[in-house]
Amino acid sequence: MMQTVGIALLGVGTIGSAVLRTIAAEREALAQRTGFALEVRWGLARHPERVVQAGLPEWAATTSIDPILEDPTVAVVVEAMGGEEPAATYLKRALTAGKHVVTANKEALSKHFAELVDTARRHQRALLFEASVGAGIPLMASLRQLLMVNRIYRIRGIVNGTTNYILTVMAEEGMPYQEALREAQRLGYAEPDPTADVEGYDAAYKLSILASLAAGRHIRPDYVERRGITTVTPDQILDARARGGAMKLIAQAELFDGSWHLSVQPVFVPGSDLLAHVRLNLNAIELTGDRVGTVVLYGPGAGPAPTASALIADTIDAVRFGAALLPTLELPA
Ligand code: HSE
Repeated sequence: MMQTVGIALLGVGTIGSAVLRTIAAEREALAQRTGFALEVRWGLARHPERVVQAGLPEWAATTSIDPILEDPTVAVVVEAMGGEEPAATYLKRALTAGKHVVTANKEALSKHFAELVDTARRHQRALLFEASVGAGIPLMASLRQLLMVNRIYRIRGIVNGTTNYILTVMAEEGMPYQEALREAQRLGYAEPDPTADVEGYDAAYKLSILASLAAGRHIRPDYVERRGITTVTPDQILDARARGGAMKLIAQAELFDGSWHLSVQPVFVPGSDLLAHVRLNLNAIELTGDRVGTVVLYGPGAGPAPTASALIADTIDAVRFGAALLPTLELPA
């Protein structure tokens, strides 16, 4: 039997608009495949006209979270606003009001992870965040599966599409840095303030989420030793290519001597390493577990369509599985 799922979308920018477009285009196919008919009831934005421009009716536009929290027909709050606040507060309030939460927000999640998981658990609601790391790559689903049996002790990869795009076109086309960044922005890969990408903050947020899941406790992003790509010179990039490798922004978390060590930094990756061949907005993440060995997940790590794909799949999983998919995350003492 078909079940209608009321959704409130927080944020109608590049990602939020892609969610609306995808739901509109796939509504019937989604209903047939899953048995759920997705209905967007609210769009929250600072400027209500943006909600209408994104394709929702005027009555669905709100600048306040309150009517969303009070609406009993809203089952899932899908957050695509980005940034720590007010997003983190909205997510907590939505869970407390009994809504399932789906988010792409790596910053809010990485800074408030334990608290959000705890709030979701107390209210027995879903908190799903597949889109927050690796966009369209089913990374969280894979991690969930691997962590049932394995101790994951190493995570290594390319988790920022913007910087990988910039480094690729600088190396392959000799494109100047500023032009490459503008192109990444035009393609919808970059954060509203691209400093988060190029200085490695975005990758640090993502690494903090992955490492927290592997460690079973919240490892905050400020624990990550971080360096961005702004110190890398065009000569270093071209030289790396001439040597058969590439300069890459590598995120790495490793457990040794009982402690986790986390870093994000630009490094020379030799041609013999798979990560040297990850181009443009693609991401690749190696997960190493004590039973499974090393698994590599590879795919589009930034961009509106892949991110919307993950957000919509999570929306359906939120209704299907509720709190059952919550990670185990020890609360800080
Ligand atoms: N700005 C991010 C990136 C978007 O470039 O990877 C996807 O999280």
